[in-house]
Amino acid sequence: MKPFVHLNCAMTVDGKIATQNSCLQISGKDDLIRVHKLRLKYDAIMVGINTVIVDDPRLTVHKINADKCSNPVRIVIDSNARIPLDSRVLNDEAETVLVVSENAPEDKITLLEDKCSVIVCGESRVNLKDAMNKIYDMGIRSILLEGGSTLNFSMFKDKLIDRVTVCIGSKILGGTNSKTFVDGDGFDKDNCIQLKLENIEKIDDDVVLTYNVVY
Ligand SMILES: NC(=O)c1ccc[n+]([C@@H]2O[C@H](COP(=O)([O-])OP(=O)(O)OC[C@H]3O[C@@H](n4cnc5c(N)ncnc54)[C@H](OP(=O)(O)O)[C@@H]3O)[C@@H](O)[C@H]2O)c1
Repeated sequence: MKPFVHLNCAMTVDGKIATQNSCLQISGKDDLIRVHKLRLKYDAIMVGINTVIVDDPRLTVHKINADKCSNPVRIVIDSNARIPLDSRVLNDEAETVLVVSENAPEDKITLLEDKCSVIVCGESRVNLKDAMNKIYDMGIRSILLEGGSTLNFSMFKDKLIDRVTVCIGSKILGGTNSKTFVDGDGFDKDNCIQLKLENIEKIDDDVVLTYNVVY
């Protein structure tokens, strides 16, 4: 069994989710409020380790009024336990589950176990299907996946994503090396992901599209 997974992302009109070397808020203030309301509906929020290293997000509900105890569990996918010990996602504002592989150094895991739960899935890279099973067994029934583009691709490849929401901010970034919504190896025409459009919403200058994934 696996939790229901909803991928939420903000991208520019040209599909970029970040600049090559600096932080950028892609969607507007009201879209951030939408995202924080969405976070409240999920048991957990999940990101890849590069997002933690680059953005140092808190992954809590803090743009709207909410009780600290309503913060979802934070899940970080991090094969080699590269997470910096002072990452904000390891603060005491919410529980955190770090998913590592058998490759992760034991001394780092010992240090991390003071700050979060650590689960091991996969030999040299996190096995995401195994991770979803174990996370389900921990009682987590729904996950809001918040990137980045490498983890998004792997989650699609393993058919683990059920719903997709993309907020298109009114910006263009360009840049061959700038991250797009989904990177990784990519799909070919025979196995690309099919979506069914469920909702269109205009929020100020942003457009929010929600799809169900058709496997
Ligand atoms: N606009 C938005 O909505 C948004 C949201 C989130 C992030 N971002 C941006 O996205 C960028 C980060 O994206 P990213 O693609 O570099 O990294 P990412 O998806 O955040 O993290 C990818 C890393 O996760 C680890 N991982 C472990 N097992 C994996 C698996 N089975 N499949 C895939 N990854 C696995 C890998 O590192 P190890 O091998 O070391 O474990 C991999 O390099 C940042 O610039 C951030 O600002 C934007």
